[in-house]
Order: sequence, then structure tokens, then C-alpha cells
Amino acid sequence: MSTWPYPFLFAHRGGGDLAPENTLAGMIKAVETGFGAVEFDVKLTADDVCVLLHDDTLERTSDGFGAMASKRFAELSGIDAGSWKDPIYAGTPIPAFSDIGLYCVRNGLHANVEIKPCPGRELETGRLVAQDAALLWQGEAVPPLLSSFSYEALQAAVAEAPWLPVGWLIDEWEHDWRERLQTLEAVSLHCNQRLLNAQRVAEVRDAGYQLLAYTVNGPERALQLKNWGVSGVFTDALGVMRGVEGLE
Ligand code: G3P
Ligand code: MG
Repeated sequence: MSTWPYPFLFAHRGGGDLAPENTLAGMIKAVETGFGAVEFDVKLTADDVCVLLHDDTLERTSDGFGAMASKRFAELSGIDAGSWKDPIYAGTPIPAFSDIGLYCVRNGLHANVEIKPCPGRELETGRLVAQDAALLWQGEAVPPLLSSFSYEALQAAVAEAPWLPVGWLIDEWEHDWRERLQTLEAVSLHCNQRLLNAQRVAEVRDAGYQLLAYTVNGPERALQLKNWGVSGVFTDALGVMRGVEGLE
């Protein structure tokens, strides 16, 4: 992409620490707090519906149980994905990607869609998330940015919708990052912030890629990363980061 269209601050998992992660309530909190961009995690149900969930299993973030890969979409209805965070969110459902995508488009909320496949489902998850994203954002000026730790999922996404921008996520420094980004025709590297120093940021930027960092919850570190050339950070600390001079 010729001009980077995304803001510096992305609300992590929807609403960061203000709302249950990966829910519509989180996206609403992000908008209410003045965020212009959100990151969220998408995987497949057993019957190939794209839904928002971080873990492979339901237990941590809902009153459901078992593996998402074993649940049909209809079986998710009635699952409470909000009470674990706070009783005021009781009844919050696990959302379909289509509903969250529509919310983002209608509210001008930029999205980083993290493709988070259940093990063994990398290719179909990449393909189907890209297919949904292409439809949901059809005709929009700014596309969603797709990312994944799974290189295979990203390759499948690119094959499905080559016009959507993609970024590769890493949690350990990968010495072949140049070749991998080039092969993928990626626009960005999304990196655990603890791996970054001024030199690494400069190398990635000099190679022509955007660099995004997760998860950054302190304004000082965010400003340091920005000064080094980082293009965006994912944060849980919505209330703290919003309004800090230099981070808008
Ligand atoms: O996409 C950035 C970040 O969300 C990656 O880590 O585990 O929070 O999905 P995780
Ligand atoms: Mg994520």
C-alpha cells in the first residue's frame, strides 16, 4: 500500500482491558474511548463459520467448554462470553466475524484481523477469513489488515484475496523475516514488543515494511517505539494510552 492508512493505536482484542475480549462489547468500548482501530482474533467453528475467540478452547473466556474446532456455530448460542470479565457483561455472545466486520465498517473502525487457526485448520481458516473479509469490506476505502502467527494461514489468505494487506506475526525474532515477508508480499511485520530495539526497527523500516508491536501498555514504551519508527501498537490499556500527546 502506498500510504499507511491505519492509526498508531490499536485496541487489543477489541476493547483491551475495558471489556470481555473479542466481543462486540469490546468494539463498542474501543469506539467510545476514541480508538480508531481494533485488533481481534478469528478462528473457525466445526462447520466453518468464522468467529472471534483467542484460545483454542472456550473455558477461559466463556461459560462454555471444549474445543472451538468441535463446536458447530449453532451450539455457541447461549454461551456467555462476558460474565468472566464482569457481571455487567452477562449474556455477551461469542460473535461471528461477519457481525464484527459489519460493526467496524459501519463505524469507520479500522481492523487488524488476526487469523488464529485451531491446530490443523490453518489453510481453511486463512482462506475463509480472507473470503469473509473481502466481502465485508468490499468497496471500502481502507481494507482490514490480516495477520497471523501461522505462515500457512497467511499464504492461504493471500491466495484467496491477494488485494488484502497482510502482516506476519512473530513472538521470537526470525532471522529470515525479509525473505518470508517478501515471499508473502506482506506489508508489515507484527512483533512482540520485547524483541524490539532501535536497530531492528530501522532494519525492518529500511526494508520497506511497516512494523507493529504487541502488547504495549505503557505510554513511555509506546512513544519510544514510535520514535524508533514503529507504525502501530496493540494495547490493552485503552484508558491510559488514549489522549497521550504524541500517540494519536
Ligand atoms: O496481533 C497481536 C496480538 O494479538 C498477538 O497476540 O496472543 O494477543 O493474539 P495474542
Ligand atoms: Mg491477537
